[in-house]
Formats: sequence, structure tokens, C-alpha cells
Amino acid sequence: MTNKITCYLVGMILLIMAACEQPAATNELDSKVSNLLSEMTLEEKIGQMNLYNGFWSITGPPPAEGDAANKYQHLEEGSVGAMLNIHGVENVRKIQEIAVNNSRLGIPVLFGYDVIHGYKTLSPIPLAEAASWDMDAIEGSARIAAIEAAAAGINWTFAPMMDISRDARWGRVMEGGGEDPFLGSRIAAARVKGFQGNDLSATNTIIACAKHFAGYGFAEAGRDYNTVDIGTVTLYNEVLPPFKVAVDNGVRTVMNSFNILNGIPANGDRFLQRDILKQAWSFGGFVVSDWSSGREMINHGYARDLRHVAELAANAGSDMDMESYAYINHLKALVDSGQVDMSVIDDAVKRILKVKFELGLFDDPYKYCDPERERELVYHDAHQEAVLDMARKSIVLLKNENNLLPLQKGSQKIAVIGALADDNNSPLGSWRISSDDSTAVSVLKGLEPYKDQISYAKGADLITGPATFLQKVPINESDKSGFNEAIRLARRSDIVVMVLGEHGFQSGEGRSRTKLDLPGVQQELLEAVFEVNQNIVLVLMNGRPLAIPWAAEHIPAILETWHLGSQSGNAIAQVLFGDHNPGGKLPMSFPRSVGQVPISYNRYNTGRPDALDLVFWSTYTDESIEPLFPFGYGLSYTSFDYSDLSVEVTGENQVSVEVTVTNKGKVAGEEVTQLYIRDVVASVVRPIKELKGFQKYSLDPGQSRNVVFQLTEAELGFYDGAGNYHVEPGEFEIMVGTSSKEGLNGNFTL
Ligand code: NOJ
Repeated sequence: MTNKITCYLVGMILLIMAACEQPAATNELDSKVSNLLSEMTLEEKIGQMNLYNGFWSITGPPPAEGDAANKYQHLEEGSVGAMLNIHGVENVRKIQEIAVNNSRLGIPVLFGYDVIHGYKTLSPIPLAEAASWDMDAIEGSARIAAIEAAAAGINWTFAPMMDISRDARWGRVMEGGGEDPFLGSRIAAARVKGFQGNDLSATNTIIACAKHFAGYGFAEAGRDYNTVDIGTVTLYNEVLPPFKVAVDNGVRTVMNSFNILNGIPANGDRFLQRDILKQAWSFGGFVVSDWSSGREMINHGYARDLRHVAELAANAGSDMDMESYAYINHLKALVDSGQVDMSVIDDAVKRILKVKFELGLFDDPYKYCDPERERELVYHDAHQEAVLDMARKSIVLLKNENNLLPLQKGSQKIAVIGALADDNNSPLGSWRISSDDSTAVSVLKGLEPYKDQISYAKGADLITGPATFLQKVPINESDKSGFNEAIRLARRSDIVVMVLGEHGFQSGEGRSRTKLDLPGVQQELLEAVFEVNQNIVLVLMNGRPLAIPWAAEHIPAILETWHLGSQSGNAIAQVLFGDHNPGGKLPMSFPRSVGQVPISYNRYNTGRPDALDLVFWSTYTDESIEPLFPFGYGLSYTSFDYSDLSVEVTGENQVSVEVTVTNKGKVAGEEVTQLYIRDVVASVVRPIKELKGFQKYSLDPGQSRNVVFQLTEAELGFYDGAGNYHVEPGEFEIMVGTSSKEGLNGNFTL
């Protein structure tokens, strides 16, 4: 790392530490909010509850004719609380000037944006980052996103998404932390801390948004926006924990979701928004609706019209309306008629104003609008270094027969095949609306230091036309004209690196799939090349778990590289050639077939778990119930040996667990030791395994480490269907090891 970059990073840390020494004066803040509120008319208050899309890009269905016509006028009247999809210092300043200079009270607006995995410099997609199991790195990645976004005028990101999901068909799994609530909660905390830092009034922090509250990841059949039908045990134990952790870590906003839960659209759900979030969890920030999730309550069959939407949503605790135009047009009449109480409006507006004060917008509405800072920080070199590190850490080695990897420098003739190898756009992944197209380092570019060893043939196109954020990706389903050239190249090479997978825009919002295979003609290409050369390293790029049973059986080496963002090709090249030893672990199970989905390691045993000769067991007749690659799984260029598990109950609901891990190989490597428990008999049936601890560390060859876990009430209990937390006496099984499948077993009794 250069000195300039080191100084920059140290500077950032000092800035945050200094800011941290000044505790927020809550009472003073509350009285500022109340004073301002007392000056506001009802129309101005309702205006604060109104979030408008900007003037160009959209991230949802366009509004109905005429709805968005009066935006400028509303800004001038102080009837806009926040805007989304406006970015860049110049644009933000223009809008802020209208709000501040022209409206009666000059209340600044918030600028929200989907900064999901970076603003311009892109880190890996969130699912990939989750595979790092490295909380410091994930926090650091969100920090960089915040620094760049804040420098470009943005003060609010609609991230992190913390929807737990077990359904790889759902395109939005790319945006989350995977299938497990424990890992997901740790990631939620890291991301919130990364975005918000310790001081919101600093110029390099932005407010985060925990989304989507709640249950959105359980959309039936993996179809986006579809119905959710889960019980309260799943809600309390699987869905809500990351949100609770986000709230405990001070997240300032929560976004509700599109789906219904127990027949009620989340935007109109009082139980979720008022009873749980605001009352039980004492959430002090504000709730924002999702894009038109208000209006969609009409489609759901829950609201008659937009006026009804406004009544239901405001009373249920949804504080800000994104792109439904329900509050701006109907709340006043509802207050006048007594259907919405003034206290509901006051509570929502106080929450919104408080966040604006916390951000320091009343002191300086243009604090994020410094063009020089924008020029200096966006695409900063230090950010490239950091996202490269994050990308390396996100790669998972799925298979490595006969140590085919790492590749040998200088000696091997290597064929690189697959359109994705030469693609500098797709690896940026989905959800990167602020960034610039085609700015990723492609695999071929990353392999340039080894160009004397490498020859390339595309084999087949993945797409037949441009792939964009708003449209379905056109996949090449038939053109195999490049196969022969690829086969010829493979025949004369020692080893073949095949870069295959999904286009970056095949996952993300509105991009559910019914198939989880390699799209288009890629599977055929893989098999055709395999016919002539079996020394294949398959480099997978995808935004979700794939079902690739043929490859898992036949291809000797498989590297899961997801969509790794700006530095993709460099990270992949460094792992391929052994400059970095991969240490990622899957945050989601990879199924054998679509028919197994939804699938997760923390399933229930059922009453008929044993697969005996008869058919009367909870299995499939044509497929195993085990995943292809389990949650927590990932290999290394070295191997780790587990020994000497000791488990001791040290006090009331206190268990100490110790295990020795030794690096048995010839290179240093990183391991993630995972601890799983099973509460054998409980008043609410518990899953066969639940992750309750993990530690990531590095070991030199031959080095051993004692890994110690302390289990407490927080890890040993569960929620019943009414949301009460219990730790029950009795027998527990424990497994400590290298994945959810493999480890040393023990037990203890509470
Ligand atoms: C809809 C998505 O569900 C949400 O996550 C996003 O933040 C908004 N659109 C705004 O773009």
C-alpha cells in the first residue's frame, strides 16, 4: 500500500475517533425537534413524510400519470422530506437550494440512494461479502461506500438488506447475507456500523436503512414480490434477529416491505411497525415505505384507494411514503376528518426531523456538497485496494481434486474459455445504479501478468444484446458457433480455466429464476471442452447459489467467485495463481436441483427423518435431501485438522467450548471455525443445527490454535410463537468444525 493511501486511511480513522468522543446531547436534540415542529403547519409536517423519486433514473415502476407532476412546486412549498435517485454534488446542491431557500422554514431534504455495494468503486455483491465471514472487512467495505456516497451528496443509503432467504430462485439473495440469522445478524451490525460510523454529523457517514421489514426473503416459490406465509416461530427466530441487531446498533431508518405477512401488507402492519419495532425494540429512527408499497396495498386487496392507503399506513407506523403519493394527497383530509390523529403525524415528523438534526443538515444543508471532496474521494485509489482485499476474501474454493489449483506460474499452458472471462461489466454485479458500466477488471485483464502462458477463446456468448438494470437479460440459448475454436484451444492446453455463470443482471430485484443451472449454452460448452481436456478449473460467477451437480461430479476444481465488483479480475487471478489462499465459506447452501429449494442447513428433523428401505420417510425418491455444497463450506489450499473438543458448563446458562485447530498443509491459510448447537428437546421444536458462533483467523503451516467460544443465554435460547425468549434446561448437542456438515461432536446439559 502506498504512503498516500496509508495516510488517507489513518486520517479517516482519526476523524472518526475524534468525532466519537462527543456524545450526542439527546435532550437538546429533542427540544430542537419540538421547537421546529411547533412552528410547522400541518401541510409542512405532511410534506416531511413524503419521499420523491428524482428526475431521471427510476428503481421501480413509474408513477401513475400526473402523480409526480408537482415535484418542484412541492419542494418550494416545503412538502418534500426526502428525495431518492439524485446523486452528484451539483445535482444534490440544486435540489437542496430549492428546499432551503424557497420554502418557508427552509428544512433541508434527505438524499437517499441504493448504495448497496459501493457508490462508484464497487465491492463484491453483499452475498459474496457474506462468504468472507469477515466482519471487519464487511464493515470496512460499507465504510468506503459511505465515504464515496457522502462525497457525492448522498446522506442516506437504502442498505443493508438483511432479509434471510433459503431460496436461490429469489434474485435478491445477491443483496443479503444468506440463509442464516446468526451470520446475518453479525453482518447487519457490521454494515450498519460501516455506513453510519460513530458520528452522523461527520461528512463521511450516511444513515443506513435496515430492509425489508419483514419477511420479504420468504417470498413463495422464490418469485419476487410474492406472498409470504410463515409462522411466528420463523418470524421471531429467523427473520427478525438481524433487524433487532440493526436497531440495537443504532440504525436510523427501517424500510418496510412489499409482501403480506399473515394477510397484512407490511406497509400497513401495525404489529410489525408499532408493536415490535417502535415499542418492543424502542426504535428511535423512522420507517420508510418501499417504492410504491403504499399504492400496492390496493393491488393486495387491503386498501380501497390511495386515501385508504394513507390512513392504514400512517396509523400502522409507516412514517415516510416512497413514490405512492398517498400521504401528500390524502393525509391532511384524514387528519381533518379525525381518521388519522395529529399525534401520529407529529410522531412521524419528529422522527424524521431528528435524523436530519443528527446528520447536521440544519447546521449546514450543503455539508455533503463539496465538489473538491467529490473529486478527491470518488474512485480513490485506497478504495480500490480495499475492495480488492474484500473481493479476495469473498472467493470460495468448492473443489480442488489433486491440487489442480493453484495454477503454476510460468510452466503451464493455460486456456481461458468463456465469455465472462472477457467481460468488464457483468462482474460489477447487480444493484450498482450509481456506478459506471464496464469498469470492472475482467478476468483476462487480471491475468495479464501471466499473458505468456494464456490463450483465450470465448466459446459462446452469454448474452445476445445489452444487459441493463431495468430489463430482462437476453441470454444466448442457441449460438454455439464458437465451440470449435474453444475445443481446439482446450485440446492443445495443459489446463483450462472456464469462466462461466450468470450475468450480473440476472440476479437482483425482479430477477427471479426457475432454473439454477448455468444459463444458455454454457453447460454444453463445459461438457464439450471436458471431452477433450479434463483438467478444468471452473470459475463460477453468479449472484445466487447454483445447482451444478454435473460440474460438481466431473470438474476437478471449482472456484466460486460471485460478482466481485471493480477489482474482480485481479482478485480471481491472485487466487488462481496462489498469491492469495482462498478462505471464504458459503453463506447459503448450494442445492443439487431446483426441486430441493428452499433448502438450508438449519432445517427441522421432521417426524420421519431416517431414510430406510421403505418410502415412508421425509426424503425424495429421485434425489438426496442433502445440498450439493452445504452452508459454511469452503476449502483452502491448505487443510485444517480439528482435535481436542472440550465442552464445559461453567455456570447458569454458561458453556465454555474449546477446540484445537492445526494447519496441516504447506501454506498459510485462513479458517472459519463454526459452532453449531441443537437443543434436543424443547417446548418449541428446534432445528437440527443452529450456528451460534464463528471465528476467523489465519494459521501458518504447522501452527495450531486453541479456539474458544463462550455460549451464554443469548446463544442458548429461542423465541416461542408469541415472541417470548426461553433458555430451557436439558440436553444440547454441539458441533464445532469447518462447515455446517463437518466437525467434532459433543454435548452438554443445562
Ligand atoms: C425497491 C426496493 O425493494 C428497495 O430495496 C429499494 O431501496 C427501493 N426500490 C428504492 O430504489
